Amino acid sequence: MQATPRRIAIVGATSSIAEHCARRWAESAPSEFVLVARDADRTERIAADLRVRGATRTSVIVADFTRPASIADIVRRAVADGPLDLVLIAHGNLPDQPVCERDLEACESALVVNGTSPALFAEAFAAGMFERGAGTLVVIGSVAGDRGRRSNYVYGAAKGLVTRYVQGLQHRAAGTAVRIVLVKPGPTDTPMTAHLRQQGAKLASVESVAACIVDGAAKGRPVIYAPAKWALIMMVIRHLPKVVFDRMNI
Ligand SMILES: NC(=O)c1ccc[n+]([C@@H]2O[C@H](COP(=O)([O-])OP(=O)(O)OC[C@H]3O[C@@H](n4cnc5c(N)ncnc54)[C@H](OP(=O)(O)O)[C@@H]3O)[C@@H](O)[C@H]2O)c1
Repeated sequence: MQATPRRIAIVGATSSIAEHCARRWAESAPSEFVLVARDADRTERIAADLRVRGATRTSVIVADFTRPASIADIVRRAVADGPLDLVLIAHGNLPDQPVCERDLEACESALVVNGTSPALFAEAFAAGMFERGAGTLVVIGSVAGDRGRRSNYVYGAAKGLVTRYVQGLQHRAAGTAVRIVLVKPGPTDTPMTAHLRQQGAKLASVESVAACIVDGAAKGRPVIYAPAKWALIMMVIRHLPKVVFDRMNI
């Protein structure tokens, strides 16, 4: 007998990390996808690719990610055909730190896209999961959220907000069957970091990061550092005394 397909929603479906997770999910078990993004053509191409890889059904929602009313509407539409088993919230961008220091509108936009928008999506999707008493919500934060650094504290602060928000949802989910998962990738080779690759930065492959996410989400792990070595690196960074940290140019 054919298993009922699991229902998966991905916010920021054009993200390279998200796309590689989706491929793994499509190839591993019968899955239906709701893909949420802002670029219709690219998202339709990703949907077509997922169907070739085994997705039983795909739908696409194109909408604004920043207004609370739009986020509430996206989530309503995403659950219209049935409850979701798995939600991945993946959108974000790497702001130019010096620009954010000079331009408060750029700073606000970076904080919204990387911080409040994912938190509002998490809140809205979690509501349905808590009501149903089931589901796994995966939110992508960053190692940058673990400690503020002069080179990217706007992005880091937004990801720090996501970290705390997810912690709160995890506390709320304790004792229920709802799983809330926070992913903290280290620098990963995706379009977001193309400029870093050109500068010679060492980046993890997107495939390895997606594998960590898919595996950790299946296990319902509360925090996934991807790749795993970043758990140790960030433990050291978080605990460095201020006097040492202040001398570091990071
Ligand atoms: N790559 C890394 O080194 C790294 C490290 C730590 C954490 N992360 C996090 O991982 C997640 C996925 O990033 P990625 O590496 O896969 O990068 P990516 O391929 O560049 O994808 C970024 C995604 O965010 C969307 N996005 C960007 N600005 C947006 C906006 N203003 N409104 C709505 N959507 C917007 C993009 O949509 P469009 O396709 O329409 O632009 C795209 O779907 C992000 O949350 C990122 O912060 C990445």
